[in-house]
Amino acid sequence: MSDKLVFGNISSKEAMNLEETYGAHNYHPLPVVLAKGEGAKVWDPEGNEYYDFLSAYSAVNQGHCHPKIINALTDQANILTLTSRAFFNNKLGEYEKFITEFFGYEMVLPMNTGAEAVETAIKLSRKWGYEKKGIEEDKAIIIFAEGNFHGRTITIVSASTDPDCRKGFGPFTPGIEKIPYNNTQALEDILQKQGKNVAAFIVEPIQGEAGVFVPDENYIKDCYDICKKHNVLFVADEVQTGIARTGRLLCSDHSGIKPDIVILGKAISGGVLPVSAVLSSKEIMLTIRPGEHGSTFGGFPLACTVAKAALEVIKEENLTKQAENLGKLFRAEMRKIDSPLIQHVRGMGLLNAIIIKPKDGIEALDVCVKLKENGLLAKPTHQHIIRFAPPLVITKEQLMESVDIIKSTILELS
Ligand SMILES: Cc1ncc(COP(=O)(O)O)c(C=O)c1O
Repeated sequence: MSDKLVFGNISSKEAMNLEETYGAHNYHPLPVVLAKGEGAKVWDPEGNEYYDFLSAYSAVNQGHCHPKIINALTDQANILTLTSRAFFNNKLGEYEKFITEFFGYEMVLPMNTGAEAVETAIKLSRKWGYEKKGIEEDKAIIIFAEGNFHGRTITIVSASTDPDCRKGFGPFTPGIEKIPYNNTQALEDILQKQGKNVAAFIVEPIQGEAGVFVPDENYIKDCYDICKKHNVLFVADEVQTGIARTGRLLCSDHSGIKPDIVILGKAISGGVLPVSAVLSSKEIMLTIRPGEHGSTFGGFPLACTVAKAALEVIKEENLTKQAENLGKLFRAEMRKIDSPLIQHVRGMGLLNAIIIKPKDGIEALDVCVKLKENGLLAKPTHQHIIRFAPPLVITKEQLMESVDIIKSTILELS
């Protein structure tokens, strides 16, 4: 590997030192600096090339710097970027029509980050609970699943069961209950007891950050039915699983249900801008009235233009089918690796994980460091799990080349 600079004007070492010195230490990145991206590949400042098997936590489904999305960004950036919602703008309505038709919902509330969209869904559910379900003032309960990851705000970490997310951040938001994931009886039980005050059950159709935890086949459908029985909103957090990642436009589509509220983020903009959205019916959405919720940037013209282009790419390039087909191939190839380091392979579409069985002091992080040296980037989640989620535009040849890197790396360490 050469030390000569190919991209940008600072070296990997300098970039890491600057982040270490001047940035808060709220992340623990793999020791690699990215300076350029294109499709499924990224490069460091010294010109070393890597397959990106994280896709910015599934935000870059359309591939790095997709030309159609970047053109939409630059064209609109020269015309109008931000208006706030104090005025109408000529991009928002068009985008709202587009995205609601795209996902089959009546209305959308645009936000920026995933966490903001989750907060929005919580507020919307509470509002619906008071106005439509008739829950007594300040008594609304939202149910979450253990092991969830929905973001980092105080209310969201109040719903978390991960000590790292919570410790030192209390006191927490009231009105939250947690039940085990992948356990329909637990949902039925809590709704039997407290259903009168429950506004919503918010759940990830696959728990991404928990380590790509895929629930039993009927779990999502059964939870949906239980919610319906108790007049509770079923809310799907599809920030990570949505937008073709699992081989369907929404992961809930695998279960044949239509959530009352869908939360989207990340890949709505193809990883170009922070864009998120909450989709729902008129009946639910119109419980929020002017002045009750919003964000300066939510629905800004630049975001609307970029998001529309990014969603068009999903359809035009048939990325849903691509994720389904390449996902099957990837899992089959991973299951062929004969190594004591691999305990289990799981996933759906191109959201997959291997569970590492530590051996002779070798853990998931060591595998990821070695993968990086061999030209593929992935990150452990929860110590023993490595998530593999490349951009959906990865070609079959590129996927097979990546499979070879993963195979040889694991065999090298076994
Ligand atoms: C399921 C899910 N919800 C919400 C979020 C939060 O999104 P953001 O980091 O954009 O706030 C994430 C982020 O990983 C996520 O995976």
